[in-house]
Amino acid sequence: MAGAVRIRGLVKDFGSRRVLSGLDLDVSGGEFVALLGRSGCGKSTLLRILAGLDPDVEGTFEVPERVSVAFQQPRLLPWRRVWRNVSLGLRGVDGRAVAERALAEVRLAGHADAWPLTLSGGEAQRVSLARALVREPELLLLDEPFGALDALTRLAMHHLVEQLWREHRPAVLFVTHDVDEALLLADRVVVMDEGRIVAEHRVDLPRPRRRAAFADLRSRVLSNLGVDDVEAA
Ligand SMILES: Nc1ncnc2c1ncn2[C@@H]1O[C@H](COP(=O)(O)OP(=O)(O)OP(=O)(O)O)[C@@H](O)[C@H]1O
Ligand SMILES: [Mg+2]
Repeated sequence: MAGAVRIRGLVKDFGSRRVLSGLDLDVSGGEFVALLGRSGCGKSTLLRILAGLDPDVEGTFEVPERVSVAFQQPRLLPWRRVWRNVSLGLRGVDGRAVAERALAEVRLAGHADAWPLTLSGGEAQRVSLARALVREPELLLLDEPFGALDALTRLAMHHLVEQLWREHRPAVLFVTHDVDEALLLADRVVVMDEGRIVAEHRVDLPRPRRRAAFADLRSRVLSNLGVDDVEAA
């Protein structure tokens, strides 16, 4: 499949602080890539740049025409009903019908007319996913989308994201702090440090995956992150 993302020598400074220092990364069409790295290493900065939200950079990057982002916080507009949040900014289509279809995909068919403040955290996050999906993105950027959710809801969200990815086949760049989450979902795990990609691992395991299947890989990724894997010891 054609390349979805091609980044070469990307440099980003905030004042005198260099956050991205010549970053190179490719993501193939339809590929699911997880991006790990310690807090403050520049993951969200990279996603914002790829989403076109920060034009002030050096280096080059290419992304497809349709790019969607879902952030750690769902960022719904509280004064608009759920379906309007989902269809926000769509033109030339029946917004209600498109929103209802996307809401059904994230198992929220009955919530189209709800107000965002009445939703649970997991529901709000699913609305945010629906909003990303209605644009039928060729590239889906997910910035710690499940960071604020409890463990059980996270599990359900893993299944959902995997299923949506399988059906729509966007390229995905998925930021997470959770190594297991990365290894459960991704085709490839990349690790960032000092503003560059410093390690990458292909995850050649059939889906759905079990944690037991990637104990070794888990230790290696944790060591890339400078953490000892106590479970493996
Ligand atoms: N608008 C900004 N102005 C100045 N500095 C910024 C700005 N946005 C981010 N930074 C700095 O850039 C660095 C990278 O931030 P970024 O949010 O990309 O990190 P991150 O890898 O996403 O971290 P986390 O895992 O905690 O979300 C941080 O040191 C942050 O303080
Ligand atoms: Mg971040």
